[in-house]
Amino acid sequence: MSTDLAALEQRAREELAFCADEAALRSWNGKFFGKQGEIAIALKDVGKLPADQRRAFGQDANRVKETLTQAFETALAQSKEQALEQSLAAEKIDVTLPGRPVRRGRLHVATRIMREITAIFAELGFQTYRSREVENDLTNFELLNMPPHHPARDMWDTFYTTIPGAILRTHTSPGQIHVMRELCPEPIRVILPGMCYRYEQITPRSEIQFQQVEGLAIGEHITMADLKGTITAFARRLFGQERQVRFRSSYFPFTEPSIEVDIDWPADDPNADRLTKGTGWLEIMGAGMVHPVVLRNGGYDPDKHSGFAFGLGPQRITMLKYAIDDIRQFWANDLRFLQQF
Ligand code: PHE
Repeated sequence: MSTDLAALEQRAREELAFCADEAALRSWNGKFFGKQGEIAIALKDVGKLPADQRRAFGQDANRVKETLTQAFETALAQSKEQALEQSLAAEKIDVTLPGRPVRRGRLHVATRIMREITAIFAELGFQTYRSREVENDLTNFELLNMPPHHPARDMWDTFYTTIPGAILRTHTSPGQIHVMRELCPEPIRVILPGMCYRYEQITPRSEIQFQQVEGLAIGEHITMADLKGTITAFARRLFGQERQVRFRSSYFPFTEPSIEVDIDWPADDPNADRLTKGTGWLEIMGAGMVHPVVLRNGGYDPDKHSGFAFGLGPQRITMLKYAIDDIRQFWANDLRFLQQF
């Protein structure tokens, strides 16, 4: 008796319909198509048949094999699809999706320049000293040799607050008083970097907040030559060894004599004319010898001690270095600007 192929096919189809998942399908496949599977066994029966029936049986068997294989593959594909749909619906995280790249941050260009400046002054022996941003009339003006109603106060447009006497510092110079009073009678060599505030109209050239770096050196026998040497060394390290430095006389109430410092700008720079307004020179800071009144206010004896001070604006210097034409970019936090540095 040979196998009833039609019955085998029927049974295989029925069992296939009951396979609920991929594992069941695979075991169905083993049961019927494995080496010892029912199809293999059925095919062996061909030898028991009379010779004239073998051909028909063989053809029949091949057809059954083919249709069952097809049915199995369709069922397998459907089951895989179903499993994926189920897992997508059930699980919130699909670990097979490509990840989102993490964007690397970087230092703000103002921070970078500030670090460059403090590093240069550190090499010249200046410690960095932090000083408060909220001052009062006494420290921002009076102790810096600007009594009330002194016209020089007009040089600084001041933010007053609702607390009487409390103002936002208009420059880093009040830090001079704090350092002197803390360290007197020791010699001093510090820089005081930090934010300043002025009640100004905001334009491409002026902002209501900006950074300054104040410098202060106090000791015995400190002269204008020390000031010039220090500033020249600083300017050449920041802008290049070939820079020329020019000192112009100027006026600040808290220094005497007072100067303003320019550097020459390379004439081959296409921006040179615009930056220097055709003069070839660029102002980078105000400076001078500490006024005797200020020395005394800090606790030092002007007959014994002397010193120099300077104040520079890092934003201005950064604008020069990178040809930035709008100071408002510094605190606008526009990534298109920040990513350039
Ligand atoms: N404080 C001055 C300013 O804001 C700069 C300055 C500092 C000048 C120290 C002389 C000495 O303009």
